[in-house]
Amino acid sequence: MYSEKVMDHFSNPRNVGEIENPSGVGTVGNAKCGDIMRMYLDIDEDTKIINECKFKTFGCGAAVATSSMATELVKGKTIYEALEVTNKAVMDALDGLPAVKVHCSLLAEEAIHAALWDYAEKHHIEIPGLKKPKNDIGDEEEEA
Ligand code: FES
Repeated sequence: MYSEKVMDHFSNPRNVGEIENPSGVGTVGNAKCGDIMRMYLDIDEDTKIINECKFKTFGCGAAVATSSMATELVKGKTIYEALEVTNKAVMDALDGLPAVKVHCSLLAEEAIHAALWDYAEKHHIEIPGLKKPKNDIGDEEEEA
């Protein structure tokens, strides 16, 4: 039921962990299942390119696989281009997800948006098209 790519990113997730002193960090919760995702970004101040992206999750296998792929896709993109990494783009890159697991892929997209939002707020800039994710839970779940 899962594609080979999903199984690969689930069994061998890329970019798991934390970034010390991140440029932006965002934590989101999935209202449907209660799972939590935190995304860390290291952004070049001048070029606005995302050099590094790491994630930690208290979530299901599909959330792990989509976040792993999402981190791979945003690395090397500017903060503006990173908005192209939608949950649909991530699912396409993974050769699809079962319909019941589509909501899991939203966690990755929203976590990236929350981290970008955090960066934009700290730097008093606007990223066109970026909205604060409604499932942003801030840093309340420190131990998540
Ligand atoms: Fe919660 Fe997948 S079931 S993110």
